[in-house]
Amino acid sequence: MCGIIGYNGKENAIPIVIDGLKNLEYRGYDSSGIAYFHNDKIKIIKEKGRISELEKILDDDKSTLCIGHTRWATHGKPSRVNSHPHASGEITIVHNGIIENYASLKEDLISKGYKFLSETDTEVAAAMIDYLYKEEKNKLKVLEKLEDVLRGSYALLILFRDDKDTIYALRKGSPLIVAKSKTGNLVASDIPAILDYTKDYYLLDEGEIAIIGKKDIKFYREEKEIKKELLTFKFDIGSAKKEGYKHFMLKEIYEQPKVIKNYLEHYLNNMDLIPDLSLYEKIHIVACGSAYHAGLIGNYLFSEYGDIEASCFVASEYRYKKNFINDKTLVILISQSGETADTIASLRLAKESGAKTLGIVNVVGSTIARESDEVIYINAGCEIAVATTKAYTLQVLTLSLCAYKLGLIKGKIDKQLEKELKVSYKNLPKEIEEILKLDYKKYATKIAKSKNVFFIGRLLDYYICEEGSLKLKEISYIHSETYPAGELKHGTISLIEKNTPVIAVITDKKIAEKTISNIKETRARGAYTLVLKQKDIEISHDIYDDVIEIEELSDLVSSILTIVPLQMLAYYVADSLGYDIDKPRNLAKSVTVE
Ligand code: G6P
Repeated sequence: MCGIIGYNGKENAIPIVIDGLKNLEYRGYDSSGIAYFHNDKIKIIKEKGRISELEKILDDDKSTLCIGHTRWATHGKPSRVNSHPHASGEITIVHNGIIENYASLKEDLISKGYKFLSETDTEVAAAMIDYLYKEEKNKLKVLEKLEDVLRGSYALLILFRDDKDTIYALRKGSPLIVAKSKTGNLVASDIPAILDYTKDYYLLDEGEIAIIGKKDIKFYREEKEIKKELLTFKFDIGSAKKEGYKHFMLKEIYEQPKVIKNYLEHYLNNMDLIPDLSLYEKIHIVACGSAYHAGLIGNYLFSEYGDIEASCFVASEYRYKKNFINDKTLVILISQSGETADTIASLRLAKESGAKTLGIVNVVGSTIARESDEVIYINAGCEIAVATTKAYTLQVLTLSLCAYKLGLIKGKIDKQLEKELKVSYKNLPKEIEEILKLDYKKYATKIAKSKNVFFIGRLLDYYICEEGSLKLKEISYIHSETYPAGELKHGTISLIEKNTPVIAVITDKKIAEKTISNIKETRARGAYTLVLKQKDIEISHDIYDDVIEIEELSDLVSSILTIVPLQMLAYYVADSLGYDIDKPRNLAKSVTVE
């Protein structure tokens, strides 16, 4: 949520920061701004809208030090005045996160004579730093003190007017990385912002401060200088570029066969990298958004194949309830970014309660990856589109492998089944390639005309529907709801009118007949029915208007194939409506606020 970047070195910093902001735009895109030293003064340029709007109002100035920000509004609507950077007295800052006690701080600062232009918590933080600096005079001491003064989460880049050669950076609850390039030093909220310049970076830890000069970078904790390990980003730089696709989302959907193949080659041949879940009495899976939908599938597979008590929770609920966990509980935290605020809070809660924790994470070195007792990296590479696709399928695949290993250990998977499952895993990338060849546009144009869409399925198919429906509403803004197929008639069927699309998923032969009856009920009320089913499940022509068929695969693997047509459908519906698919309105890729 919000992206930040700074450069301090030999080159003109302004284009570097603007490029970095473009690479971070997926984190927030309501407004953007930069601040740089110009003739010994700090100049701020900011604008509402996309980075392209900011570019239109840039001067020809050059500066070797610049900080920038792309915003996802929390306090105050998107507007030029609410955009970052914010300045107060000697101080100019950009900020990710939320200052929870900003209202009381603001009141206090107003009583001390401070005036505020914006509605933001960030301007309050700038004023607070200015106030402390005027009192204390020592920059490092002021920054150390902030931890006691500012409540909430923040990653801050700070410019002091009397120090034109330095960027000060600190974090609490929001990520920041610091990097060295050939020409200078960079600091950013996220790796894609720096990848054009370097792959080597330092990860700022909670409570640490970085003082970023033109040559040297110094790190401090509790006023003492510390040494930090230089890390290397291992993925392909190309994976953060569109590579000819119209949108990142489409590129990422098409990348799935390859990343899944690589993933399976890596993990299926090294099953010792998958933790032994049989060591626990129960499993809690905790996540947000699509990661939660992946968790629903894992939850089902753990019970089916592992005979273990498993439950799945939305992180923003889990963290506030009694969870009855102890040292025999494994809490699995699923997160693409590894930085989702509620998932991090749940992780910390689980650890405090004595549970063991396992992170299933994409972003290497992220908070969840570092704080979990164990971590499985899904190795999706950079995922840029806000609507997740390849990270989601790899999350499901990871849970599938955990269930598979659990089934082997518990003797629920015998030799014959093991053989069959291996074939299913092996065939998965090829089957996804096949399913990607279908024409989804013809279905998409029918759905794009609708105001409401319903998704129905049972068990695994229902969990897949949850994700398919989320994909559709995220990027096409069409209202859609998901129901367990048997539940629709308990009220919601009243919303079915002539031509209301009902997308039904049937991949489980055991319960196919039941879902088929529910499809008939909607069709009898005039629904347009699109059925997504496994080839071997027989259905009569009179229950559907359109049908998409996928290969039969084991239920350990089938969900990963089933979601792909729904991703494509959502994509082409949104594309036919002309929306900005990679940056849907009001959304952000990484939700670092609660
Ligand atoms: C946001 C994203 C979703 C994602 C969710 C959880 O809402 O738009 O795509 O599933 O956050 O994010 P995480 O990084 O924890 O997987």
